[in-house]
Amino acid sequence: MTGDLIPGAGSAEPAPSPVDADLVVSLDGVGVRRSGTALLHGVDWQVELDERWVVLGPNGAGKTTLLNLAAGRLHPTTGTAHVLGERIGRTDVTELRTRIGLTTAALAERLPAEERVRDVVMTAAWSVVGRWRESYDPADEARARALLDQLGVGTLADRTYGTLSSGERKRVQIARALMTDPELLLLDEPAAGLDLGGREELVARLAELAQDPDAPALVLVTHHVEEIPPGFTHALLLRDGAVMAQGLLHDTLTADNLTKTFGLPLLVERNGDRYTARAA
Ligand SMILES: Nc1ncnc2c1ncn2[C@@H]1O[C@H](COP(=O)(O)OP(=O)(O)OP(=O)(O)O)[C@@H](O)[C@H]1O
Ligand SMILES: [Mg+2]
Repeated sequence: MTGDLIPGAGSAEPAPSPVDADLVVSLDGVGVRRSGTALLHGVDWQVELDERWVVLGPNGAGKTTLLNLAAGRLHPTTGTAHVLGERIGRTDVTELRTRIGLTTAALAERLPAEERVRDVVMTAAWSVVGRWRESYDPADEARARALLDQLGVGTLADRTYGTLSSGERKRVQIARALMTDPELLLLDEPAAGLDLGGREELVARLAELAQDPDAPALVLVTHHVEEIPPGFTHALLLRDGAVMAQGLLHDTLTADNLTKTFGLPLLVERNGDRYTARAA
């Protein structure tokens, strides 16, 4: 606990539930049910400010559901979820959402093809898609351009979004997610659909981000251990809405845990700071 207790300063207000200031995400016994189905159950998970998490699991395991929960876009049916110190379901999430960067396939589909790339990034400052009459300050434009540079797509700033390749779009989406200088960045399968070169480029950019001490807490969802960028510190393995294993990356990415998670015998190899997996 930080903050001094003031002797005698009694208050009728109940004390807020103690939330560790360094905890970016804190899920306690969280379940999510929809149409009678448990999408997640019994999930306990804590993400600290300086951690970079990868979430792995087969199709339908609940990875996107978990990300939407961490983004404050979904309420738990059971248990409690705190994100950036706010309790989901008990707080106005409008303000909270500006503190969280999120990329998902569903959000990407809403980006207008005719929009200039720099505007796709800049409009995130207003939590809108499609530039209309918002006024942007030159600092916003400079920030959008700097982020595009950082993601290696600075030369595309004046192109229209619809003319970009899928790999270029993924990087623009990440720049957009970073525009509000979020405290938490959630990436749902950012490398999906990329060719080998595109994937490796993206992995390198994410590795830079992971190793940047000023970067937000990161959570990356992927199906492939090959896509885990160097610098990621932790892993959470999901299957059928339940956590199969979680903890430090090197301890968690074992053949046993991956076999349990994906339901087939798997071997995993670590080469330096990259991983590969194949059927045993
Ligand atoms: N509103 C809903 N009602 C019922 N079932 C749902 C609903 N939303 C998601 N589901 C189901 O919940 C399960 C988990 O979905 P989720 O999208 O979280 O999986 P995922 O791990 O992200 O899968 P993928 O790897 O295919 O993206 C899936 O079986 C999905 O069909
Ligand atoms: Mg998904």
